Amino acid sequence: MATSATSATSSPSSPSSASSARPELLDGRGRVVLVAGAAGGIGRAAVRLFRRAGARVVAMDRVRKGLPSGAGVLQLTGDAACEADVQRVVREAVQAYGRLDWLVNAVGAVGGGRLDATSLADWDRLLGINLDSAFLLCREAYPHLRRHKGAVVLFSSTNGRNGGSQFSGPAYAAAKAGVLNLTRYLAKEWAADAVRVNCIAPGPVATAMLDRLTAAEHVALKRAMPLGEYADPQQVAGMAAFLCSRYAANMTGACLNVSGGMVLD
Ligand SMILES: NC(=O)c1ccc[n+]([C@@H]2O[C@H](COP(=O)([O-])OP(=O)(O)OC[C@H]3O[C@@H](n4cnc5c(N)ncnc54)[C@H](O)[C@@H]3O)[C@@H](O)[C@H]2O)c1
Repeated sequence: MATSATSATSSPSSPSSASSARPELLDGRGRVVLVAGAAGGIGRAAVRLFRRAGARVVAMDRVRKGLPSGAGVLQLTGDAACEADVQRVVREAVQAYGRLDWLVNAVGAVGGGRLDATSLADWDRLLGINLDSAFLLCREAYPHLRRHKGAVVLFSSTNGRNGGSQFSGPAYAAAKAGVLNLTRYLAKEWAADAVRVNCIAPGPVATAMLDRLTAAEHVALKRAMPLGEYADPQQVAGMAAFLCSRYAANMTGACLNVSGGMVLD
């Protein structure tokens, strides 16, 4: 459902020309970003940050509750693991705002438990949410991103880098490793179009995703982090903004760790 969808009135300044008049990290004026998973902790923070940078934002999630609203924000609901829904969302986004410059996919869900306790249905569901969503959103957004030399930010996880654990389960670990290599694959395939693709690999971030942990598990997790504190969703959103900014113009195929030192490579 659209709220305050307006057409573009200004053309974007070149991302490669630093503007001394606007020293912010990201100049979003005239730009449009699709944030998927926008009702979640990191997604909501990203919507706020890109709006503050002047971009218009398509805020998409499976659920409406928690979706940011306001001027310059188009709310759309849909299942990011469903091909027809993703096609509709991208179509409606471009119909409303006329272009798409950046894609940030903050959709995600964790599992848990051992492999021998994982049903095929759970495996498929988690691969769908965490990996199919990235494939579908990238594929559908690509023709629009290419027009504007756009950028994509995907979300892997420390679980996708270090093998994960039973806290999040085998499907999450496999899906997030898949996101990392999809990032690298697309970085190479789309470099000729100057579409950059990078990912962020968070360790624990203070969002609803950690709500399922017990107090003792929180203590143990923080002890495993050299910096000893969970990341704030705004910090992670800031990394997404950086990856879309002119400062990252020569970065593609990268994976940025924000794990309090848990993962170092
Ligand atoms: N929070 C963490 O500790 C952490 C750590 C590592 C990686 N990540 C990753 O960061 C990203 C953002 O996570 P978060 O912490 O904001 O989690 P969150 O649970 O707060 O938000 C996830 C959002 O994804 C949405 N979603 C789930 N399935 C969907 C679907 N099929 N279609 C559309 N939307 C769907 C949910 O409704 C929710 O709003 C995810 O990819 C997550 O895996 C988070």
